[in-house]
Amino acid sequence: MGLFVTLEGPEGSGKTTQINLLEEALTALGYHVVCTREPGGTEVGKQIRALLLDARNAALVPEAEILLYSADRAQHVAEKVRPALDKGAIVISDRYAESTFAYQGYGRGLDMEMLSDITRLATGGLQPDLVIYLDLPVEDGLARKHKEHIKGTGEWNRMDDQSLVFYNKVRDGYLAMAERAPERWLRLDASEPIEVLHREIVARITALAAVKADVAQARKE
Ligand code: TYD
Repeated sequence: MGLFVTLEGPEGSGKTTQINLLEEALTALGYHVVCTREPGGTEVGKQIRALLLDARNAALVPEAEILLYSADRAQHVAEKVRPALDKGAIVISDRYAESTFAYQGYGRGLDMEMLSDITRLATGGLQPDLVIYLDLPVEDGLARKHKEHIKGTGEWNRMDDQSLVFYNKVRDGYLAMAERAPERWLRLDASEPIEVLHREIVARITALAAVKADVAQARKE
């Protein structure tokens, strides 16, 4: 098994910037790196993503929403994540199951046990070795995202049309999960300079990779 790292955080927290930097840095260190995302990490997933994020689909009920995110995840794990991990890669995913617990669980108020069951079906129990959480006050994240949208460099989707109350519940959920499992979560302040965040993330991942024999092995090959 390789190393499975996921990035979580609100809209506008800079996940994509960090993933791009990370891919470059870890590749330069000789690791086999696979970057991916949810929803939309596979061909089937791209179609599910379009459905989920289309602002015209405001009528989507929470139960349909969770099943669509989970369908995307099932395909993603089976087709892309597990095969790459089996080859000893470091897989970096922009969002994973913790998004479901934060958005559909804490945000929408769906039953957590039911979400765990659906998630187990979708993932076969695969959990990240490390969850990097970029924390940012809700208003700051939405302001960043809105600015990008106005400049024409970022999309504005169905999930971005939710209320501030919803986003605050999502953030509280992330903070609670990070606090419960500090050994698996790296919580960072997303307002820190990009380079500072990048160095902290690389340090944590390389330390983890060093203790996983097959990740080190894939690096030598
Ligand atoms: P995306 O454009 O990828 O957002 P971001 O750039 O913030 O990652 O859109 C994904 C949206 O889907 C985002 O608002 C979070 C939401 N989401 C869920 O609600 N549940 C999930 O399980 C996942 C994976 C994402």
